Amino acid sequence: MHIQNKKRFYLMMGLLGFIIILLGFSIYMIWTAISARNVPIAPTSNTATVDSTQGNRTDTVTSQAIADPTDILVLVNKTTSLDQDYLPPDLVSVDLPGVRETQLRKEAATALEDLFDAAALKNLTLYCCSGYRSYQSQDQLYAENVNAYGQKEADLVSAKPGQSEHQTGLAMDVTAESVNFDLLESFGQTPEGQFIKNNAHLYGYIIRYPEDQTAITGYAYEPWHLRYVGKDVAAEIFKNSLTFEAYLTQVQ
Ligand code: DAL
Ligand code: ZN
Repeated sequence: MHIQNKKRFYLMMGLLGFIIILLGFSIYMIWTAISARNVPIAPTSNTATVDSTQGNRTDTVTSQAIADPTDILVLVNKTTSLDQDYLPPDLVSVDLPGVRETQLRKEAATALEDLFDAAALKNLTLYCCSGYRSYQSQDQLYAENVNAYGQKEADLVSAKPGQSEHQTGLAMDVTAESVNFDLLESFGQTPEGQFIKNNAHLYGYIIRYPEDQTAITGYAYEPWHLRYVGKDVAAEIFKNSLTFEAYLTQVQ
């Protein structure tokens, strides 16, 4: 090949190589941009993500957000979470003997007063232990339980923040002197515990975590944890020995 033609040939080959590299780079950039647009940047609309770091634990809990947290029949459990900022309306301080001062929503507080009055007529004295708890205080309590018992055990007795019924203002832990004002399984066998078991529904309350229902409720037996659901629903749940989850599934 003539020297001049050789030069032109190499120039053309160099130019072609440059064009191929430029084309490849452009295709790569376009592909990257399209892929980035397909990556979700937030949870889908009906889920809530709770990120929390306390002590020696880090949780990332993704569960269903609750549509109406003010509903008396609101379901709060390990798969449905309340918003961090949710504060129940109409919270009042309960006017009942208690281990400490605590609050409930008005309707639930009135019903609990009636229940305690009925117990008093049988010479039984019940005490309030814990009613409304904020997201932040639940976060602290859960962390304390994890530190004391380890996460697996803690998850059986303590709800993660956002997943406790206590944040609804519709739940109260009750106790008695016979169990040293503590929250113990043996409370269920005391006269006060038996009274609660057999009469709470007449005042609109249910024992939310019954014995042997951990597979459904997610929690160990808590004979002390009362949840207000109103008289009609409580009667139905009592009559048929249901969990709240099972009741809600039936009526859906
Ligand atoms: N002990 C119940 C599950 C709660 O922490 O809300
Ligand atoms: Zn409780």
